[in-house]
Amino acid sequence: MKKMLITGGAGFIGSNFVHYTLRERPEYKITVVDKLTYAGNIENLRSAMDEITFIQGDICDRQLMDKLVGEHDIVVHFAAESHNDNSLRNPWPFIETNLVGTASLLEAVRKHDKRFHHISTDEVYGDLPLDRPDLKFTENTPYHPSSPYSSTKAGSDLLVHAWVRSFGIKATLSNCSNNYGPYQHIEKFIPRQITNILSGMKPKLYGNGLQVRDWIYVDDHNSAVHAILDKGQVGELYLIGANGEKTNKFILETILELMGKPKDFYEHVTDRAGHDQRYAIDNEKIVKELGWQPKFEDIRKGLEETISWYKENATLWEAEKQAVEAKYKENGQ
Ligand code: NAD
Ligand code: DAU
Repeated sequence: MKKMLITGGAGFIGSNFVHYTLRERPEYKITVVDKLTYAGNIENLRSAMDEITFIQGDICDRQLMDKLVGEHDIVVHFAAESHNDNSLRNPWPFIETNLVGTASLLEAVRKHDKRFHHISTDEVYGDLPLDRPDLKFTENTPYHPSSPYSSTKAGSDLLVHAWVRSFGIKATLSNCSNNYGPYQHIEKFIPRQITNILSGMKPKLYGNGLQVRDWIYVDDHNSAVHAILDKGQVGELYLIGANGEKTNKFILETILELMGKPKDFYEHVTDRAGHDQRYAIDNEKIVKELGWQPKFEDIRKGLEETISWYKENATLWEAEKQAVEAKYKENGQ
């Protein structure tokens, strides 16, 4: 058994990664370390609790990270402050967790000589123009982040690269596009709109809604991370994407149709400051070098399943719905 430490395993992608790994890769013995911020929910791991070890802890706690990293073979690092809108309201938790937290893990990895995989985002590259559909992000695109969130993720990537080059740590990185699926916090675009409709509120579209995101089902992200753990080259960065470019308006209209609402049952609200226009991933490297392929490319079917999941799991989000919406309302969103 390989001992795997998963940071941020009570959040959206982290919890899906835990469930995926238990299902598909039983050779790993899993420990989750998570601070349980507003975005982490122990209930996301309820069905896995008998099979994993859960530790509530902060990745900025250097002593704890030193101990935990020392006790495991491999670290998969998901923990982060992850929401752009929050980073515009208060960047400090992003600076602490995404930069200081990543550095504290890197120092422990260096000391104990362990394998490290850093989970990052395509947002480190900034955005692409809407009128150049021929352009996509590649592993050679220069970093040009727009928000406090994406700049702290870019900084955390640079720390990993520096620790590989200067100290020879055994690390890989992946930068993925927008994930969707179960267990996503209801502050994010797709679950916010689904749960608005389920709560009798109108969905909210920022600006004109013509911004493009490159959607990937969360288990395709998870299988790609495992492909990198299995076959990735130490020191390398891999972009993960599933050719899922859609405008926000298209996603919203599809949700409305699937939930039996009129196409125009939504409100345009204040746009996000510095709003990135388009993300698009060229996934050639991971496909060609590691033989990875996405399996869940039917976004309509994926949205249908995601809607069902939020309907069936209302106990996971109902209690905080009002507070999440109140926070948005303060910004006219
Ligand atoms: P999330 O906000 O749903 O989950 C983050 C988790 O990290 C939560 O469980 C939270 O409690 C935990 N956490 C936060 N600060 C912590 C700290 N100081 N110590 C320990 N735990 C802490 O985020 P997500 O959407 O699941 O994203 C996970 C990772 O994937 C992040 O690194 C993010 O940048 C990256 N990513 C996300 C997407 C996406 O579409 N959601 C796409 C690409 C990359
Ligand atoms: O690209 C990867 C990134 O995707 C990850 O690194 C981030 O952690 C993740 O949150 C996501 O970032 P985005 O900012 O793209 O996701 P978000 O769900 O916040 O918004 C998606 C798009 O929808 C974006 O263009 C803003 C828009 N939006 C969002 C909300 C919450 C709306 O139009 N209305 C909304 O209510």
